[in-house]
Amino acid sequence: MVRGCERVSPMREAILLVGGQGTRLRPLTINTPKPMLPVAGVPFTVHQILRARDAGITRIVLATSYRADVFASFIADADLGIDVVIATEEVPLGTGGAIRFASSFLEGGPQDPVVIFNGDVLTGLDIDALVNTHQDSAADVTLYLTQVADPRAYGLVPTSPEGRVLQFLEKPQTPEEIVTDQINAGCYVFTRSVIEGIPEGRPVSVEREIFPELLAAGQTVMGVVDPGYWLDLGQPMDFVRGSVDLVVGNAPSPAVVNPGGSLVLAEAVIDATARVDGGTTIGVGSRIGANSQINASVVFDSAVIGSDVTITNSIIGEGSVIGDSCVISDSVVGDFAQVGAGNELRAGARVWVNAQLGDRAIRFSTDK
Ligand code: GTP
Repeated sequence: MVRGCERVSPMREAILLVGGQGTRLRPLTINTPKPMLPVAGVPFTVHQILRARDAGITRIVLATSYRADVFASFIADADLGIDVVIATEEVPLGTGGAIRFASSFLEGGPQDPVVIFNGDVLTGLDIDALVNTHQDSAADVTLYLTQVADPRAYGLVPTSPEGRVLQFLEKPQTPEEIVTDQINAGCYVFTRSVIEGIPEGRPVSVEREIFPELLAAGQTVMGVVDPGYWLDLGQPMDFVRGSVDLVVGNAPSPAVVNPGGSLVLAEAVIDATARVDGGTTIGVGSRIGANSQINASVVFDSAVIGSDVTITNSIIGEGSVIGDSCVISDSVVGDFAQVGAGNELRAGARVWVNAQLGDRAIRFSTDK
């Protein structure tokens, strides 16, 4: 029985979009899909799944495509305290097509809310408040919006004072086109029956196709601006920042129990004269040599860092070997690469998976 305005607590379902190729994070995503890259000790997707669980989501469908095998073997062994189901597209269907395909794995009714998460966004979003706004306003879709200082790289989403979405604007080119600082933050709630209206069996973009169509058709599209933490981890330097923010406790996650200055995982060996700080993570079984300094960086598992090495704001791939006296800043070293002694990698340099660099070279890149 429902009394007065008491809220019914439905089973809450979610779809986590994790099927993209993660091209901007190459070469890290050659072996591992972006949401499965380790961040603060666990695959990024675990931070998202646990936040969803803690917000009352009881069932989550992982919409996979690229390297779906990596998700399947991880989920088979994981106990995350939430029902996780894997939906795999044979060919990538884009964000909208993936939602449509994954919806056949949902169990709720046509009026139930379905929360959709992009698989690469780290947030402090109040998920419960987003779902409540969606239900209270009887919306078809409700988007999570965040405000950014420089919105030029994003699609803008202006809203009315009541929170109704007025427009979806592609990346603004001129100052006049910047009509708001609100952007689509990569999480939204659909009423399930609205998902059934997305075309089946072909690639569809939810951002470019479905949202503008719903608006043009006069459906109720709401936007909720959440002032909490937000970061898209799609680019290397943002990936490093997100990892650091989780380690030091700036970004919230149930998977980070004791935030601190650095995170050193099991069986890592750090020489007593080395310094590891600034929110750095040192992966399982990695080794750091004498007098090396690792600041605000991510070292994946089983990497070997020599002596007198300086690493800042960088990602060092699994099983890679960094020779003595290297200087690496704002750069990415792919899995199992070997970087000879005395190399300098700076300003967006990327070393490919399995690459071998001889001793003493200086490599710069303007690739951001
Ligand atoms: P880039 O290639 O670097 O742009 O990264 P991406 O592949 O993650 O693309 P993007 O950031 O635009 O994708 C947003 C979210 O949707 C991410 O969580 C992707 O994993 C997911 N995604 C993108 N395309 C597909 C798809 O075709 N199928 C599925 N299941 N998910 C997708």
